[in-house]
Amino acid sequence: MKRRQLAEEAVNQIEKVFGEYPGHRRAHARGSVYEAIFSSNGNASALTTASHFQPGKVQALVRFSHFSPDPTWADIMSPAKGMAVQFKLAEGEVTNIVGVTAPIFLAKTPEVFTEMLRVMKSFKNGKPRFADLAEVMTQYPESRAVIEILKKMQAPKSFATGLYHSNHAFYFHNDKGKKQPIKYEWEPEAGVEDLSLTDAAAMPIDYYKAEFEDRISQGPVNFRLNIVIGTDEDPTDDPTVEWPAERERIHIGSLSIQKQAPYAADTLFDPTVMTEGISCSEDRILNFRQDAYQVSHSRRKKGQ
Ligand code: HEM
Repeated sequence: MKRRQLAEEAVNQIEKVFGEYPGHRRAHARGSVYEAIFSSNGNASALTTASHFQPGKVQALVRFSHFSPDPTWADIMSPAKGMAVQFKLAEGEVTNIVGVTAPIFLAKTPEVFTEMLRVMKSFKNGKPRFADLAEVMTQYPESRAVIEILKKMQAPKSFATGLYHSNHAFYFHNDKGKKQPIKYEWEPEAGVEDLSLTDAAAMPIDYYKAEFEDRISQGPVNFRLNIVIGTDEDPTDDPTVEWPAERERIHIGSLSIQKQAPYAADTLFDPTVMTEGISCSEDRILNFRQDAYQVSHSRRKKGQ
């Protein structure tokens, strides 16, 4: 099946499992958007020629979200939170980093991801059944590690206390033609803090947005951008595998989130939109996201 056709199929399956919500993103449907400034400290200059990673500042747009494709789910039903960052470069160019609070993804290929959705029962008439999801995933050996992570996964206490991972590897290219595999991590300056189950149970439906806006009214919310340095032993094509914890991390800049922005209804945070000095790895899920996000974007723009 061609990539675009498979992307249509994947988005159709998401709609079958979670329902259709006209005008909304087909995943991470509910979220809120903020204006930010990214300051690079130049620590990545020897590894990449990318303009936003040279010393200096660029404007950015940030969207925090709850993973569910159903915008009516309470915050706490989506333990995984998203953080999409769009850097505004010169002459209208943009580049994105789209992360989540889980370090790995549940499938290595678009075919397996779509097949998982195909066998999943509908969530439309009630609560999500994570037991069903776990059962589906036992059929896919590469996804077992994710089950263990999902079982233990807790939501962050606030959008401002999540550790967000790119899941995928990317390549940095320097001016000498050297290529370095990396993964990204957004580390909260407020510290990583998860929710206890008791606190989670007591939480109102739209708690995260209100809590974040309260924080930001008192001053900027900051994140450090780290890169994890891949070695020859680390797969660059498999988002179901976490690189070893002892890999070198380099702090390459800081994001200062300043204020609420108009809702980015039309903005497409496509994780494959790169700039000179950075390229996508061969990870098939990463490259498939380009098509799946375009399908979702064109449907929601038409009000479907
Ligand atoms: C087969 C793989 C995947 C598919 C089919 C998929 C599908 C989608 C779709 C359809 C959207 C809505 C796009 C839009 O309308 O703008 C979306 C958004 C999003 N996805 Fe994925 N996704 C996949 C993998 C991932 C992975 C691996 C991550 C984690 C890094 C991720 C994180 C997000 C986030 C944070 C958003 C919200 C972006 C925003 O705020 O606009 N997704 N996804």
